[in-house]
Amino acid sequence: MRGSLLYLSRQSWLRRWMETSSFFRPLTSRFVAGLTLDDGLRVCGKLQAEGIMASLDHLGENVKSLAEADASREAYLKALQRIEAGSYPVTVSIKLTALGLDISQQACLENTEALVRKAGEIGSRIEMDMEGSAYTDRTLAIVREMHRKYGSVRAVIQAYLYRSAADIDKLCALGVPIRLCKGAYKEPPDISFASKRDVDANYLKLMRALFDRGSYPAIASHDEAILNEAIRHVREKKIGPEHFEFQMLYGVRRILQKRLVSEGYRLRVYVPYGTAWYPYFMRRLAERPANLMFLVRSLMRG
Ligand code: FDA
Repeated sequence: MRGSLLYLSRQSWLRRWMETSSFFRPLTSRFVAGLTLDDGLRVCGKLQAEGIMASLDHLGENVKSLAEADASREAYLKALQRIEAGSYPVTVSIKLTALGLDISQQACLENTEALVRKAGEIGSRIEMDMEGSAYTDRTLAIVREMHRKYGSVRAVIQAYLYRSAADIDKLCALGVPIRLCKGAYKEPPDISFASKRDVDANYLKLMRALFDRGSYPAIASHDEAILNEAIRHVREKKIGPEHFEFQMLYGVRRILQKRLVSEGYRLRVYVPYGTAWYPYFMRRLAERPANLMFLVRSLMRG
């Protein structure tokens, strides 16, 4: 089921049809803030009122031309300008393939640099989402360069990859802040843990390493067992809540989100907006089979 949904997420004909049909828009509202930056910022404002920080993501990935990459950069810059104007406690999450990584590493670097520089100027941060493993090395190279020049970045590490322990060691040595997630792409078994049990065990191992050696780690998961272990660990090691944050996705485990905030922990919610919602939405469906039932029920209701 998960593999089929991830396969469908790469079908461009289906993507074109669904993204341009107004029929599907109401269904996406569970995971996507809306089609515009105003929609995204409205959600950030509501979260802020609940004591929750946000990371805004202008949806889009794997652009096919440098003109599209420029348009992504401009959309992200506009988001940073609005964050500055509204003094929101908001970072911006980007995907390097939206900024041209498939076309030109240099153009992608320049686009990214414009965003990281601006984020630094306004006291925000660019969080570089991690995509499929074909991009890991190139993404981390850009993260390291941006960290060295500006500092205002966060890397993302996926616990399902065997290489992640070594990546964490290198990034921690440089003081690069890290968001730790399980990983949302379909990866081959020679480079990744296949079972949930193994991924979870590796997540816990990497999480402890980040708490011990990392710089302001972000624990990105909705898995209650993992979150409980994080809380147990920080209590035992007397790590204050100001030294790390939890992160979750918009529309996922809202009650758990409120619980963490009520217990005094920092929480940042990832808020995606934009018209290119299809691949993101399909990854969210793939993560939990029950989401497919939610989709089918919504379609039947019309
Ligand atoms: P797990 O999948 O085990 O889920 C635990 C529980 O959470 C489930 O039982 C369910 O209750 C709930 N849940 C999880 N996903 C759900 C969903 N989609 N719908 C409804 N309920 C759900 N990945 C990546 O490869 N690169 C990246 O850059 C990022 N960035 C990122 C940022 C943030 C803030 C988060 C929270 C996650 C990511 N991810 C990501 C996605 C991540 O890799 C992973 O696919 C999902 O977070 C699901 O994993 P969990 O840790 O939640 O555990």
